[in-house]
Amino acid sequence: MRLLILGGTTEASALARALAGRDGVAPVLSLAGRTRNPALPPIPHRIGGFGGAEGLADHLRRERVDAVVDATHPFAARISAHAVLASAAAGVPLLAFTRPSWRPRPGDRWTAVADLDAAAAALGPARTSALLTVGRLGLAHFRAAPQHRYVIRTIDPPDPAELPPDHALVFDRGPFALDGEIALMRREGVEAVVTKNSGGAAAAAKLDAARALGLRVIAVDRPRIAGERDEAETLDAVLHWIAVHRSGG
Ligand SMILES: NC(=O)c1ccc[n+]([C@@H]2O[C@H](COP(=O)([O-])OP(=O)(O)OC[C@H]3O[C@@H](n4cnc5c(N)ncnc54)[C@H](OP(=O)(O)O)[C@@H]3O)[C@@H](O)[C@H]2O)c1
Repeated sequence: MRLLILGGTTEASALARALAGRDGVAPVLSLAGRTRNPALPPIPHRIGGFGGAEGLADHLRRERVDAVVDATHPFAARISAHAVLASAAAGVPLLAFTRPSWRPRPGDRWTAVADLDAAAAALGPARTSALLTVGRLGLAHFRAAPQHRYVIRTIDPPDPAELPPDHALVFDRGPFALDGEIALMRREGVEAVVTKNSGGAAAAAKLDAARALGLRVIAVDRPRIAGERDEAETLDAVLHWIAVHRSGG
């Protein structure tokens, strides 16, 4: 079974590791190429866009792909929409490896917002110190709220032109542990955590840390992905779907 995994996430890497060396499945991991030194799992990979939904459909036909698992980030809406269109066009089954959204627990100080502009506004007019974990490419939105101090955590260095004026940069990649998150928030005097509501385990420790320290959380709602696709939330469920499709079910 020739399987294309659309990746760029901890979940995709875990799936790739689980499939490495398995009989009967030939997986290829596809990365967009955003991260300079991506963590590469022990399976074949390709890097770079396909050229839109049509380019992806051509790729599926040319490479005789039998099934696609979309394990991209919940905020990577464009590639997920392309996967729906392309797999339908090429007649290839598609599974989205999704993650349940994070939800506030009783006592949490959460504000849910629609987008990054609303997240910047939700920090309020008074100066605060915010940890931004929204990715390198979403930082320019916070230039509209220059009164705050921002502790910005990214994998690769951001474009200096996109940074709000008062900032500290922290370079790191998940998965993150609770102790480290608490230490970072204490050291930097963080009062609010701004995050995409990505869900999943690899980045959840910052929410537990915010809860432990009584900090505000501003969580950006995820985009809706339109179209027909199967969905699974756990690695076991994804492996089961692959097994069923491998045997022609
Ligand atoms: N958005 C986030 O917050 C976020 C967070 C963590 C990780 N990531 C990962 O970073 C990558 C890019 O995210 P994004 O938000 O920029 O995506 P996006 O807006 O949905 O996609 C933009 C374009 O990037 C290409 N692309 C995206 N994912 C790809 C993949 N796995 N393999 C090959 N091409 C891909 C496609 O180019 P073509 O149209 O040319 O095919 C797509 O049209 C994804 O792999 C995603 O899983 C994103």
